[in-house]
Amino acid sequence: MGALSSMQPVHRPLVFALNGERVELRDVDPATTVLHYIRSATRFKGPKRSCGEGGCGACLVILAKYDPETREVKESSVNACLVLLCSVDGCAITTTEGLGNQRKGFHAIQKRLSAFHGSQCGYCTPGMTMAIYSCLKHEQQHQSKATAVGKNNGNAPSSGPTCETMERAIQGNICRCTGYRPILDVCKSFASDVDLEDLGLNTCWTDKADAKQEYLPQYDPSGDPAFPQFLIRELEGRKTPIQGHGKAQDVIPAKEGLVELDARFKHVESSREGDEERAWVSATNFAELSAALKVLKGKRDQVKLVVGNTSSGYYKNIKPQVFVDISQIPELLTVHREAHSLEIGAATRISELIDHLDEFAPDPIATNLANHLKKLAGGHVRNWGSVGGNLVMAQRFAFESDIATILLGAGASVKLATIKPPHESYSSHNLVPMEEFLATSTHDQSTILQSIHIPLTSNTTTNFKTYRGAPRPYGNAVSYANAAFLASVSRNAEGVAVIESTRLAFGAFGTKHAIRAVKVEELLKGKTLDLSLIKECVERVKQDVVPLAGTEKPEFRVALVVGFLFEFLNSLLSSDQAVVPTPLLPHVGKQSINVTDEMYPLTQPTAKILSLLQASGEAVYVDDIPSPPRCLHAAYVLSSEPHAKLKGVDANIAMGSPGAAAFISVKDIPDGGKNVGIVSNFMGLETELLFAEDVVGYAGQPLGVMVADTYDHAKFAAERVHVKYDKKGVEAPILTIDDAVARNSMHPVPEAVKSINHHHIGDTGKALAEAEFQLEGAVSTASQNHFYMETQVALAVPDEDCITVYTSTQAPDFVQQAVSFCLNLPINKVRIICRRLGGAFGGKCLRNQQVAVAAALAAYTLQRPVRISLDRNTDMQMIGGRVLTKTKFTVGFTKTGKITAARVDVLLESGWFVDFHMIMFNSMDSVVKKYNFGTFDLSFTFCKTNNVPKSAVRAPGDAQCSTIAEAIVDHVASYLGMSGIKVRDANMHTFDSLVLFHRDHLVGDKEGFTLPTIWSRLKAHARVEEREMEVEKYNKQSKWLKRGLGMVPCVYHVLGLGNTSTVSIFQDGSVVVEVGGVEMGQGLYTKVSQAVAYTLSPLCSKKEEVSELLKKIRILQLDTLHLPNSFADGYSTTSEATCAAAQQACVVLVQRLLPVKEELAEAHLNGEVSWESICFTAKFRMMDLQSHQRWVSPIFQYLLYGAGVSEVEVNILTGETRTLATDLIYDAGRSVNSAVDIGQVEGAFVFGLGFYVTEEILRDSKGKVVSDGTWTYKPPTLDIIPQSFNVELYKSPVHKDRIFSSKAVGEPPLLLAGSVYSAIWSAIRAARKDYKGSDGCGDVFEFNTPATMDKVKKLCGMDNVEKYLARVNTGNSS
Ligand SMILES: Cc1cc2nc3c(=O)[nH]c(=O)nc-3n(C[C@H](O)[C@H](O)[C@H](O)COP(=O)(O)OP(=O)(O)OC[C@H]3O[C@@H](n4cnc5c(N)ncnc54)[C@H](O)[C@@H]3O)c2cc1C
Ligand code: FES
Ligand code: FES
Repeated sequence: MGALSSMQPVHRPLVFALNGERVELRDVDPATTVLHYIRSATRFKGPKRSCGEGGCGACLVILAKYDPETREVKESSVNACLVLLCSVDGCAITTTEGLGNQRKGFHAIQKRLSAFHGSQCGYCTPGMTMAIYSCLKHEQQHQSKATAVGKNNGNAPSSGPTCETMERAIQGNICRCTGYRPILDVCKSFASDVDLEDLGLNTCWTDKADAKQEYLPQYDPSGDPAFPQFLIRELEGRKTPIQGHGKAQDVIPAKEGLVELDARFKHVESSREGDEERAWVSATNFAELSAALKVLKGKRDQVKLVVGNTSSGYYKNIKPQVFVDISQIPELLTVHREAHSLEIGAATRISELIDHLDEFAPDPIATNLANHLKKLAGGHVRNWGSVGGNLVMAQRFAFESDIATILLGAGASVKLATIKPPHESYSSHNLVPMEEFLATSTHDQSTILQSIHIPLTSNTTTNFKTYRGAPRPYGNAVSYANAAFLASVSRNAEGVAVIESTRLAFGAFGTKHAIRAVKVEELLKGKTLDLSLIKECVERVKQDVVPLAGTEKPEFRVALVVGFLFEFLNSLLSSDQAVVPTPLLPHVGKQSINVTDEMYPLTQPTAKILSLLQASGEAVYVDDIPSPPRCLHAAYVLSSEPHAKLKGVDANIAMGSPGAAAFISVKDIPDGGKNVGIVSNFMGLETELLFAEDVVGYAGQPLGVMVADTYDHAKFAAERVHVKYDKKGVEAPILTIDDAVARNSMHPVPEAVKSINHHHIGDTGKALAEAEFQLEGAVSTASQNHFYMETQVALAVPDEDCITVYTSTQAPDFVQQAVSFCLNLPINKVRIICRRLGGAFGGKCLRNQQVAVAAALAAYTLQRPVRISLDRNTDMQMIGGRVLTKTKFTVGFTKTGKITAARVDVLLESGWFVDFHMIMFNSMDSVVKKYNFGTFDLSFTFCKTNNVPKSAVRAPGDAQCSTIAEAIVDHVASYLGMSGIKVRDANMHTFDSLVLFHRDHLVGDKEGFTLPTIWSRLKAHARVEEREMEVEKYNKQSKWLKRGLGMVPCVYHVLGLGNTSTVSIFQDGSVVVEVGGVEMGQGLYTKVSQAVAYTLSPLCSKKEEVSELLKKIRILQLDTLHLPNSFADGYSTTSEATCAAAQQACVVLVQRLLPVKEELAEAHLNGEVSWESICFTAKFRMMDLQSHQRWVSPIFQYLLYGAGVSEVEVNILTGETRTLATDLIYDAGRSVNSAVDIGQVEGAFVFGLGFYVTEEILRDSKGKVVSDGTWTYKPPTLDIIPQSFNVELYKSPVHKDRIFSSKAVGEPPLLLAGSVYSAIWSAIRAARKDYKGSDGCGDVFEFNTPATMDKVKKLCGMDNVEKYLARVNTGNSS
C-alpha cells in the first residue's frame, strides 16, 4: 500500500453516544475495539476485559441502533472486546454505569443482583447486568412487534419472558464465584411465569411468606436510557442508513495524496522501521466496495471485510491493515420471506436469523435450525456476528461452524457476487448449493457472499434434526462434531418407515468443511428402514466421516457422529426411540439457613457491601485505576522451550516496533537486588526467580518484559524479541509424572514435613494379607486453571524514594517482600495497595507476585509508571493451575464392602518450582482419611517436571485427595457390584476411628463431630434410598440415557494464619476499618462489618441503631505501609481471623467508650444516648478513637464436615453428562453471614464441577499450555450446574474456641462436587452392564478427572452403538 501520509480523517467524523453523551472522533485507529476505547479513553470502567475473545461476557455493553426509516430502536448486548469502534457510528452505547449508578440511582437489575447475593468478586457483574438487560429489551421489542402485527389481541395479558428465556440471558457469561444460582434467580425474578416463592435467598423480603410482588415489582422500562435525541436528529439529517457511510454531506474534503483509498479513517503508526498504516473504508453499496477493492488489488491478504468482527475472537493473529465495512450494503441485508423459504442477506446477524426462523414455527426445519442456533456461542456474539461471516469462516478458514453444517443439512444454497469486467463492479450469481460453496477453496476477498437461501418446504414426510456434541450442553462452546439430517420418509402398509431421500450433513469433526455423507444417503434411498440397514449406515458413515490427521480426539468425534446418525435413524423407526436428555432450564433451588437475632447483626444474610457498586461498574479494580501520566505498559517474553540453556535474548528488532520503550530483564535488577519474583513465607523464606537466567525450566517461563506505550504495542514487540536456546548438554525435558518417576526427578521434602509425607495407621501389610478381597487400582486427577475473571495485574508507580504497586493479590505482604528483594529497597519503601480482587482462588497468593515485581522493576528502571495487565492467554500459559496427581492403591475389604486396609501412594506433579506445595502435606492427608479404612498407609511424592509450576487452586491438594478416597470406595463398590453409597455407609468414621485417623487437636470433642448426623439427615432429606431404587429402575428401561446417584462426605482440615486490624471511629459516628485480609469475593468486608457492628453494639441503644451503624462502616483497601506484616489470605480462614482481629480492636474501643455512654446517659432524661453523641463527645475529650489488634490463635485448626448427594444423567451416545439434582448439607457453624456462606458453598461446589467434569488443560509436545482461553478451556456455565440445587447450612453446636462459633467455608464445599463424579461413576457402571451384557460385578475401571465427554463415552464404550446393533441384528436384543 502506498503511504497514507496523514492521520487526518478524510470524511465525516465518527459520532456515537456513550451513556447518553455525544462522542465525536476524528482520528480513530480502525483496529480499536469498543472495549479498548471505553476503558482507555473514557471514565467508564464497567465493561471489563477478561478473556478478550468473546467467551466470557465480562465486557458486555448495550448497543442501540435507530432506524430513521421505521423510527425503531433496537437494543442488544454485544461483546465490546470484539466490536470495532468504527462500526458503532450512529449507535448509542450503554454501559452498566449508564443504566444506573450511585448518583442517579441504581437500576432494578443492579439492585436485584445485590439483593439476591448475585455478586461476589463482582468482576462478572457488569456483564451480567448487561446480559439481563439485553434479554429484557429483546422481549420488549418482540412484544411491541407482536402487538403491532396484531398477534397480541390486547385481551391476553402480556405474556412476557418466561423463566427459561430469562435464564438463557446469561448463556454467554461466565461467573467463577457464585455458581450462577443467585444470578439465575435474578433473571427469573423478571419472568412472567415466575412463582416468587421459588426464588432464592434475597434481601427483598425477610421471610418466604413475605414473597410478594410489591417487594419485587415487575420490570418497568420507563426509566431506561432512551435513544439520544441528538443522535436521532443527526441520523435523520444524514438521510443515510443507520450507520451512514463516508460520503454524506458533512464529508471533510480529502487532502491531496489521500485519494488513492477512499477511506473514512486512516491511522498511521510510526516506528523505527517506517510507517504502519491502517484504514477503515465504509462501503455502502457494491460500487463503493468494488472501487475500494480495486485500489487494494494485490494486497487482499491485508484486507478484512467486516460485518461484526467477531471472528477476531478466534483468529487473533490476523491483523488486517484495511477494514472494509460491508455491514450496510443493502444487498447483504435483504430478507425475503416466502411461504416455504427464507432468503437472508449475508450480513444478517445470527440473532436476527433466529427471530426470522421463529416466525415460521412450528415448521420443523425452521424450529430445529433456530433451536440449534440458540446454542451457538453466547447470545451477545449472536447479536453482532453475521450469518455470512460464519459461513465465510467455515469456507475459508475451516472454522468448526455449526451454521455451515445445519444449513447444509437443510439444503440451503448461497448467492455469491463477484467483480466482473467491463465495469469492474459486482454482479450476483445464481444460487450455489451449500456443499459447492463450502468445497470451493478459491473464493478470495473480491467474492462476496451475498445471501443465503433456506428452503423450509415441509410436509408431513419431512423429518429434520440437528445435533452438536460440545463440552457445554446449551452452547457457548464450539462442537467436537455436529450434524443435521433431513429425511423424507413415508410409511409402508405395515407402518414401517421407507426412506425416500435424505441429506446427511456432518461438520466440525476434524474436517476442512462440513460434508454430506453421500454413501450413506445412497444406501438409504428408497429402502425400508430397519436395524440391519441402520447397522450398515453406521458402518458406512465411518468411510465418509474421517477426521484429518492431527485432529484431537478423533476416535471420539467419529463415535459422536455414529451416535448422531444412529439416534436419528432409530427415531425414524419409532419416535419412542428418540433420545431426549432431561432439560436443564429453568433451574430450581432451596437454601436453608439459620439466622438468630441474639447476636445481631451477626448471622444475618445481609447483602454484600459494595455489591451495588460492583453491579454498576463503579467498584474499582486494579485495571480500573486510571493510568498516571506517562504510564507505560509491559508484556511478557516467555520461554518457548521447556528445558534449554539460555544463550541470549535479543530485543534489538523488538525495540524498533511502534511505541517500544525498553526491554526489561535480569540485567536491569539494581545493584544489590536479587532475581526474585516470588517469595513464600509459609515454610520459612523461600524464593523463586523473576526471570530465567542461565537455564529455562519450562515453556512459559518469563524471560523479561517488553515495555511500550500501550499493551498491544508491548505485546507486539514482545513477540519480536529473539531468544536463542542451546539444548546441547541439557537433559531432555521431563513432561509427565511417568517421566519424572522414570528419571527419579523429585522435589526434596523439607525436614519440617518429612514426618507427615509418609503416614500410616495400623499394620496395613498384615491387614491386606488377611483381607477377604484385595484389589489394586489407580486414579489420576488433572490440573485445573484458576480462571479468575480478573487476570493478573499490577500498576507500579515510582515515587521520590520509594515505589507503590497497586496489585491484585491475596498476599500483599509477600509482594512487598519480593519487590524489596528485587529492587534492594528496605521494606518500608515498598508500598503495596490492594482494594479488591476480581477472583483469586489461590492463584493470587504466590504466583501473582512475579507480575507485580516485574512491573515494579520496569517502573523503577524507567522511572515511569508501568502497568502489566495480562491477557487471558498469557495468564493461562504462565500461571500454573492445580497440582496433578497420579495414585496407585491397594485396598483390602470384606464382601459387605467394609474396607480393612488401604495402601495409597500419591505422586504429585509440581512443575519446575515447588510453589507452596510442601505445606499442603499439613492438611491433605486428612482428606484421604475421610473414611475409616481400618489400617492405612499413605505416601506423597512431589515430582519435578519441566512444566509450568503448579499452584494453589481452591481446596489445593484437598480436591485431589478427596477424589482419591472416593475412587478407592467406588472401586470397591464396582468390584462387589454394590451401591457406592452403601459402601460409603460401611466405611464412615465413628468418633473413635476419627480420633485414631486424625490428630487429636483436630478432632475436638465428640459433639463437634457432626458428620454422622449430617450424613443421615441428607439421606433422609434427599430421599436417597428411594432414589437409588428409582435410578435403578430408570436404567433398566432406558438404553441410551443412564442415571447415577452419588453421595460423598466432606472432611476437611482447616488451618488459621492469624490476622490484624485497625478500627478508627470518627466524630460523626462513621467507622473505618483496616484489615489484613483481602476482599476477593468471599464476603470478607461484609463479615468484618457485621463483626464490628456487633462488637460495638453495647455502645448503641437499640437494634435499629446497630443496623444504622452497620451502614456507617467502611472497610479500607489494604495498604502494607498502613497495616504491615499482614501475611497471606488462604485456607478459607481469613474471614474468621480478620473478624477476630477486628473484634478485639472493637472490644478495646468499647471499653474506652462505655464510660462516656454511661456518663451521657445519666445526663439524659430517658437514659438513651445516641452512638453519634458518644463519638462526638469522645473526640472532643481528645480520646483515642483508634484501636489496632493482631489476632493469633495457637490452635486454630479443626476438621470441617459436610455431605452432598447428586444425580446425573449420562447420554451414552455422546458422553454428555447433565447434573439433574444436588443436595448439600454443610456445617458452617454459626455463620457470620448465612447468605455469604451459602454463596461460598454453591460457588465452591460449582468450581468443583469444573474440576470434576468440564475443565481440561491440554499441553503441546513441549509442555506449553494450549488450553489457554475460553475457546479451549471450559469453566462451568449455567448449563453445568445442577438443575435442582438445594443447600442447607447445618446448625452445629456453639463452640467457644471458634470465632463467633463460625466455621470456614470458602474451599471445603468444593469437595462435595465429588458427589457428581461418583454419580457419573455409577451411571457408567450401569452403561457398562448393558455394554458387556454382565451383572456388573468385578467390573473395575479407572475413571480419571475431569469426566469430559470423550472420557465418559470411552468408558461407556466408544463402539456401544455398533455393539448394540451387532447384538440386535443377531437376535440378542438384551
Ligand atoms: C465466542 C464465540 C463463540 C462462537 N461459537 C460458535 C459456535 O459454537 N458455532 C459456530 O458455528 N460459530 C461460532 N462462532 C462464530 C461466529 O458465528 C462468527 O464469529 C460470526 O458469525 C462471524 O460473523 P461476523 O459478522 O462477526 O464476521 P466477521 O468477523 O466480520 O468476518 C468473518 C470473516 O468473514 C469475511 N466476511 C464476512 N462477511 C462476508 C461476506 N458477506 N462475504 C465475504 N466475506 C465475508 C470477513 O472478511 C472475515 O474474513 C463463535 C464466535 C465467537 C466469537
Ligand atoms: S472480555 Fe469480552 S467476552 Fe470476555
Ligand atoms: S462474582 Fe462472578 S466472577 Fe466473581
